[in-house]
Amino acid sequence: MAPFTEDELKEKVQDGYIVESPEEMTEGYRKALAVQLTVQADTELISAPAYWMAARHAPSTNTQVSAHAIIQDELAHANIAYRLLEDLGESKEQLLYGREPHEFKHPYGFDQPLENWAELVVANGFFDRAGITLLSDVHRNTSYGPLKRALVKVDMEETFHLRHGEVWMRRLAKAGGEARETLQRAVDWMFPMTVEWFGLPDDLKRHSGQLDYRLKGMTNDELRQAWMDAAVPLCESIEIEVPAHHDEEKDAYVLDYPFPCQYDPEEKRWLFDEGQISWDDVFTRWKGRGPMNERYVESVRRSRDQVKAWLNGGVA
Ligand SMILES: [Fe+2]
Ligand SMILES: [Fe+2]
Repeated sequence: MAPFTEDELKEKVQDGYIVESPEEMTEGYRKALAVQLTVQADTELISAPAYWMAARHAPSTNTQVSAHAIIQDELAHANIAYRLLEDLGESKEQLLYGREPHEFKHPYGFDQPLENWAELVVANGFFDRAGITLLSDVHRNTSYGPLKRALVKVDMEETFHLRHGEVWMRRLAKAGGEARETLQRAVDWMFPMTVEWFGLPDDLKRHSGQLDYRLKGMTNDELRQAWMDAAVPLCESIEIEVPAHHDEEKDAYVLDYPFPCQYDPEEKRWLFDEGQISWDDVFTRWKGRGPMNERYVESVRRSRDQVKAWLNGGVA
């Protein structure tokens, strides 16, 4: 039995109480935390094969090694989050090997192929920036002590991934010609992809258990604005076009395209011309998963049966 009722725990964490062990959790708190950690763990895990398949396009040995250092960090971040899930009674074995690829909870953006060096560095500049935006908010505000402490290491490493992305975006923009064009094409599909990542706008999201239990502090729209507050000026400074601008009157970033709208994953193109769609349409697309979903999940699990066979003295 939890020592608190749901309402008591919600009130306590809003007053700054830090939860340190599963015994203090109510069922509602445990479930909300498990969902948050699963999204975090799966996102870190699946970013590894996405980045790994792109890293072969690195322009040199040393740049490929930098990309691989990032991949190593992501796998460690995934391990931290799955490890915290084990404290909540979840099985890492089941989470990693017992689910169908479509049951993983990483965002739709990480179901897409990254097919050249520009797409990898924009993933670092945009997707890792989204990661930092979300996780630094969790770090500042979470009521779960073990997660707050674990995120110190994660935040520092994510800053390195982000710098890698931004430095390379500047470099490619400056190089001009084909490098610059490839960068612009990557930004064209990856900017709206990251904007959508933050989910339902606040006026449609009526209730958030994660805010009630103080598992995060900022709303979806606040997080989306915080991301644009960094991503838009970066692109403007290197004269790379993005479909958003700062509105002085509203003192906020506004999108210059219908939001949300449909995406064509084969063409890697947003269908701005077809106008706004409903969030139900977006959720249907997300649930259908993107083109690399099965391949990415399979690629991190592939060696397991072979290793098992070796250990049992057989041949795979
Ligand atoms: Fe990470
Ligand atoms: Fe990262």
